[in-house]
Amino acid sequence: AEATKWAEEDIAALVSDQHGWVDPRIYTDEALYQLELERVFAKSWLLLGHESQIAKGGDFMTNYMGEDPVLVVRQKDASIRVFLNQCRHRGMRLCRADCGNAKSFTCSYHGWAYDTAGTLVNVPYSECFPTLDKKESGPLQARVETYKGLIFANWDTEAPDLATYLGEARFYMDHMLDRTEAGTVAIPGIQKWVIPCNWKFAAEQFSSDMYHAGTTSHISGILAGLPADKELSDLAPPTEGNQYRALWGGHGAGFYLDDTNLLAAIMGEKVVDYWTKGAAAEKAALRFGATARSRIAPPQHMTVFPNCSLLSGVNTIRMWHPRGPNEMEVWTFTVVDADASDEIKDEYRRHTIRTFSAGGVFEQDDGENWVEVQQILKGYKARSRPFVVSMGIGRDEGSHPDYPGRIGYVYNENAARGFYTHWARMMTSPNWAALNQTRPGSENELDSNGIHTDSVEQSAGY
Ligand code: FES
Ligand code: FE
Repeated sequence: AEATKWAEEDIAALVSDQHGWVDPRIYTDEALYQLELERVFAKSWLLLGHESQIAKGGDFMTNYMGEDPVLVVRQKDASIRVFLNQCRHRGMRLCRADCGNAKSFTCSYHGWAYDTAGTLVNVPYSECFPTLDKKESGPLQARVETYKGLIFANWDTEAPDLATYLGEARFYMDHMLDRTEAGTVAIPGIQKWVIPCNWKFAAEQFSSDMYHAGTTSHISGILAGLPADKELSDLAPPTEGNQYRALWGGHGAGFYLDDTNLLAAIMGEKVVDYWTKGAAAEKAALRFGATARSRIAPPQHMTVFPNCSLLSGVNTIRMWHPRGPNEMEVWTFTVVDADASDEIKDEYRRHTIRTFSAGGVFEQDDGENWVEVQQILKGYKARSRPFVVSMGIGRDEGSHPDYPGRIGYVYNENAARGFYTHWARMMTSPNWAALNQTRPGSENELDSNGIHTDSVEQSAGY
C-alpha cells in the first residue's frame, strides 16, 4: 500500500454520514490523494468512452484511469481492450495521439512495436535482448465491460462485474441511454479542459446537488438562453422531484417530475419537444413501461461513482480526471439517440457547446464555484472546520415504490453523504474483499424492473 501519514481510523473520521459533514482536507491533502489513486481509482469501474467512438477494428482512443494513461482499442473480433499506454521498455507513452485507426503502436523512443491487442511484436536489434520474452512484455491489461454503449474498465481482478457495481444506478442511467432500441451514438469529438479544483467537487455536485440550480448559480445561464416569449419567472425551477442515493456504492442522481422548464432553458424548445412529444417520446414511454420512469423530467443529474457523470436531456457525459488534489481535467462528450433525426442531433451538438462545454454558459457557473472553494482552501483556518452536508437528514428519506435506491426530496445532500461515505469505505479498505464486508446485505441483485431487492431497512445503520 502507498505509504500514508493517515491512520485508517483518522480517514474514516473525515466523513460523517450520520451528522452530515466532511473535513475539507479531503480536497487538499497530497497523501490522501496518493491513496485515492490506489484505493479508489485503481479499484473502481471507470468510464472511458462510448462504443461508437471506436466503431471499427483498429480504432483506438487514449484516455486515463486516474492518472494512469490507457489505450482503448477495438479489436478485429469487435471486442475492446484497454491497456496501459506505457511502453514496457523504458516507460515512454506508447501512443501520443488522441484517437485514430492503427494496425500497431510503435514506441517513439526506441521503436518497440505492439499489436492492437497489446502484444509486443517487434523489437529493433532484438538479437541484443537474448533474455527478453516478447509474449510476456506487453503492457498491463485492464478488465473491460460495457453498459448500453458506455465503455468501462477496471484494473482490479477482485472487483464485482460492472452490472453488480452499478446496481440500481442502471435504472437512472437508462433515462438517457435506453430511450430507444437503437441505443445512443456519441456526437464526434471529446472536449477537454483543466479546472483548478479537486475532482470530488464536480463528481459530488452531479451526484447530489440540485440545490444550486434553484438559486443564483444558473440564473445567468438561464437568462442567456431565455426564449423571447418567456419571462425569467416562467422558467422558475420546479419544486417537485426526488433524489436517489445508492444503497451501497456511492452513486447518486436527482430529478424533477414532469416539469421540463429547466431543460427548455438549457437546450431550447426543439429538444424539449423531442423528449416530450412525437414518435421518439412515445417510443421512450413504451420502453420505460412504468409511468414513474416517464415522469422523470430531464435534466436528471447523476454520478456513477467515482468520476463519471451524466446529465440526461442535455445528454452530456463526463469524466472528472484527477490531476493532483488541486486540479482536474474535464473530458466530456455528448450522446444522442441513434435513431434521432439529423436536425435533433445538430440541436444537441449546438446546445451542449453553448451550455455545457469548455465555454458553456452553465459550465462557467459550476466551475466558478469549485475554483473559488479550492482557492480558499489554501488558507489554514479555511481547512480547520468541516463543511456542512446535512441537508435532508431526518426529513424524508426512505424507500419508494417506483424508484430504486434510497429516495428523498430532490433538494437534498443525502446522495453527497452517500458519495463521501463510499469514498471513505474505499479509502479504508485495502481490497474488494474488505470492501464487500461493508455491504448492507449479501443480496444485491436487481429484479426485472431494475429495483433493488434489498430493502432500505436492511441497509440502515451503515
Ligand atoms: Fe519504448 Fe524504449 S521506451 S522502446
Ligand atoms: Fe450546475
